[in-house]
Amino acid sequence: FNVKVNAPSATIEPTMWGVFFEDINLGADGGIYAELVKNRSFEFYKPMMGWTVRQKHFTEGAVLVTNRKAENTANPRYIQVTVNNAAKGDLGLVNEGFRGMGIKKDLRYDFSVMYHLPQSGIQLHVELVDSLGNILGGTSVTPAPTGEGWQKAVASFTANATVLKATMRIWFEGNGIIDMDMISLFPADTWKNRPGGMRADMVQMLADMKPGFIRFPGGCIVEGFDLSTRYQWKKTIGPIEERQLIINRWNAEFAHRPTPDYFQTFGLGFFEYFQLAEDIGAAPLPILNCGMACQFNSAEVVPLKEIDPYVQDALDLIEFANGDTSSTWGSVRAYMGHPASFNLTMMGVGNENWGPQYLERLKVFTAAIKAKYPKIKIVNSSGTDPDGERFDLLNTELRSMHADIIDEHYYRKPEWFFANARRYDNYPRNSSKIFGGEYAAQSDHTVSVNNKNCWLTALSEAAFMTGLERNADVVSMASYAPLFAHVDGWQWTPDLIWVNNLQSYGTPDYYVQKLYALNKGTNAVPLTMNDEVVAGQDSLYATAAIDATTHELIVKLVNASDKLQSNTLMLEGVKKLAATAKLTVLQSDDLFSVNTFETPTKVAPQEREMVVKGKQIIVSTAPYSFTVLRVKIL
Ligand code: AHR
Repeated sequence: FNVKVNAPSATIEPTMWGVFFEDINLGADGGIYAELVKNRSFEFYKPMMGWTVRQKHFTEGAVLVTNRKAENTANPRYIQVTVNNAAKGDLGLVNEGFRGMGIKKDLRYDFSVMYHLPQSGIQLHVELVDSLGNILGGTSVTPAPTGEGWQKAVASFTANATVLKATMRIWFEGNGIIDMDMISLFPADTWKNRPGGMRADMVQMLADMKPGFIRFPGGCIVEGFDLSTRYQWKKTIGPIEERQLIINRWNAEFAHRPTPDYFQTFGLGFFEYFQLAEDIGAAPLPILNCGMACQFNSAEVVPLKEIDPYVQDALDLIEFANGDTSSTWGSVRAYMGHPASFNLTMMGVGNENWGPQYLERLKVFTAAIKAKYPKIKIVNSSGTDPDGERFDLLNTELRSMHADIIDEHYYRKPEWFFANARRYDNYPRNSSKIFGGEYAAQSDHTVSVNNKNCWLTALSEAAFMTGLERNADVVSMASYAPLFAHVDGWQWTPDLIWVNNLQSYGTPDYYVQKLYALNKGTNAVPLTMNDEVVAGQDSLYATAAIDATTHELIVKLVNASDKLQSNTLMLEGVKKLAATAKLTVLQSDDLFSVNTFETPTKVAPQEREMVVKGKQIIVSTAPYSFTVLRVKIL
């Protein structure tokens, strides 16, 4: 290989490798959002979903769901419990958690409830219980009378055991009538120990990748299966009890459960998404509904003459993220605890939308956003069929409209990823940038239980990504999708990171993404074999970059053959190199190797050093391997 180290070509944007977040597969509720109580405000499609009533005798009381829709449209339902001379153990409520509750020994748990209690006389006994009935910890709460209004009661306790699938029980003791809403339980070990925050292990997996951007909140949930279930960011901010939940679009055709119990409570809302982006050093990339519901479902559109509120949402979001604290929406951000700007530089209009209806709506959004915020880059959607005519037509149209960034999605077989390592070599330069917004190699058909994140899928993505890096002047961003999946609650495979109620592990695909993101560099440099880019010759794929800030050369090599290959890198335009280089290698002889909860790092990076003499580096690449070499340029 010839590497022209002193001929930096494409600039690799700091945003190049990012993450795509969607509340699919229990990604948010039941996943990264650490709330343990399912249906805490009784607003699910069936009010008592997730709850069961435990009652010894009919005389000990009654449980009633009350709906005050006229008074509180965002959170109309609450539960009323009438307690008649009940002793602990007579009358209770049990919450099953999302797929059970993951409980950790010696960790503090914070219980809270909004309640209305005209007169004292009731005591609540809160307990965590395992499947055998063992008590894992608990506390008692004696709520003070509230008078007319509602108050919040809080209590904490420490768990005495680690259990993957516990439940929470509340026993009622005494006499009286209590109204309850927002019944909540959070572990204390949330990310940055924020009360009501996110699961730290899951956020850490993202932070470890040092992603350049985070796209949120999806995906199809942006669109909704009809417009009434589209994502509306304004309903996801402010006090959590005022955030109006909606059914999750992923209850639709892919749901494996007989009852639709997957909702978006928006405890993780747009403020928290921006905060998460800031925490992990990623540029925020919100995607907004463009006035069209999911075209795979309903194809419902808002008439153009009624599109203004949708466009206003986009303008207001920019003000919410960046506006001065004296502005209407900037003041809301400040009130929520973040007076400083969230530095929003880009936003998406539409997800996987197409056709003339999309273009008409996109034009209205673009004109309004650019008129008020000319510096904001707009991500345009180009659908899911990367080889299709519709896709080409749309891309041509978008280019003629001078789209800033075009979002391409590809869920294809590993063969497609290997074959498309040159996909962007001939894309127009000096035109719209490309965002590989969702991609994942499919070992079987999408959503199948056999569709595994195996070493073959990861290796094919690593090969494809050499082409993204080489064409960084065209491709400014890329992200694997979907990001998270709960092992007991998924709707889609494959997924980058798998979790249960207590643990998370990265797939081989995760480690590929992480290695690219951690070894990004600032500029691609030419790497050729016989004057050609290396994209499949002898099943090798390669790319090179320099990091101008650390003065390093970074070479990525994919050996997709079943043979050990010796690769000689002839470096041009460099005087001297450090005496050692660092090699990070992902490898497995078995293309169908997978990581699991039991063997989470079966396919994971191994690091070693190698001696470098002169300006010629010989790197042996093992069969089926992805190697990253870093060496200091002196
Ligand atoms: O990543 C899963 C889904 O795939 C996304 O929600 C959608 O944009 C795409 O079709």
